[in-house]
Amino acid sequence: MADKTSECTKKQCDDKCNHFGKPNPKNGWYLRDTIVNRYEENKTEPPEYLTDEQIYLETEAIISWVDLGNSDDKTEIEKRIRAVRNMPVSVEVECDIDKEKDEKALDEKADKFFAHHFHPGEVMRVVTEGSGYFDVKDLNNRWIRRPLSKGDIYIISSGCYHRVCLDTKKKMKAVMLHYDKKGLEQKFWPESETDPMHVQYIERMKCLRRSLNFQYKSRPGSVDCDKTLNRP
Ligand SMILES: [Fe+2]
Repeated sequence: MADKTSECTKKQCDDKCNHFGKPNPKNGWYLRDTIVNRYEENKTEPPEYLTDEQIYLETEAIISWVDLGNSDDKTEIEKRIRAVRNMPVSVEVECDIDKEKDEKALDEKADKFFAHHFHPGEVMRVVTEGSGYFDVKDLNNRWIRRPLSKGDIYIISSGCYHRVCLDTKKKMKAVMLHYDKKGLEQKFWPESETDPMHVQYIERMKCLRRSLNFQYKSRPGSVDCDKTLNRP
C-alpha cells in the first residue's frame, strides 16, 4: 500500500493515496501563486507534489522519456524520437545563456516560450540538451510545474494551456513535433479562453472525471467541476 504522508490534505486522498510529499526529482508540483523569479522551482509551502500519472489525470498531458543515447547524431536522435510518435513536422529550438548577447536578450527569447497558450492540434516536445520546466494549467487554473532534462518528452492535447520555462542553468534545447504546420500555431491566453478548442478540452477533462468518478473540488472563481460528478 502506498504511503499516506502527513502533507496529504486533498479531500479525495485515502489510504491508497500517494498525493504530495514525495520528493522524487521527477515529480511535478503546484506552482505558488506569486512568482518573483520564474527560473526557480517556485513550489508552494508546503510543496504539493504530483506524479506524472496525477498530472495526466489533472491535465491530459502525457509526460514520459525516451532514451536518446549518448550520440550527437541528429539522424539517430530523430529516429528515436519518431519511434514514440512519428509526427512529420519537427522544429528545433534552443535557449542558451552562453549563446545570447546578455541576460536581457535571453529573457526576451524565453518570454516567447513562457507566454501561456495552446495549439490547435496535439503536439510533442522532446528535450535533447540541458534542462528546464514544463508548466501546464489544470482545470482550477492552477499551474503544475514538471522539471525536464535530456530525453524527457511531453505530449499535449489541443486546447490545453501550457508554457515552457528555463531553470536557473538557463540552457535547454528541444525538438517540437507536430502533425502539420497548423500545429505550430499558438493561441494565447486570455483571448483564446472562449476558443472552441479550449472549451472542448475542458469538456473532455470533465468527461474524464465523470468516467473515473474523480472527486474534484473547485476553487472560487475557477471552472466548476463539482456538477460533473452528478449524472443528470
Ligand atoms: Fe506550446
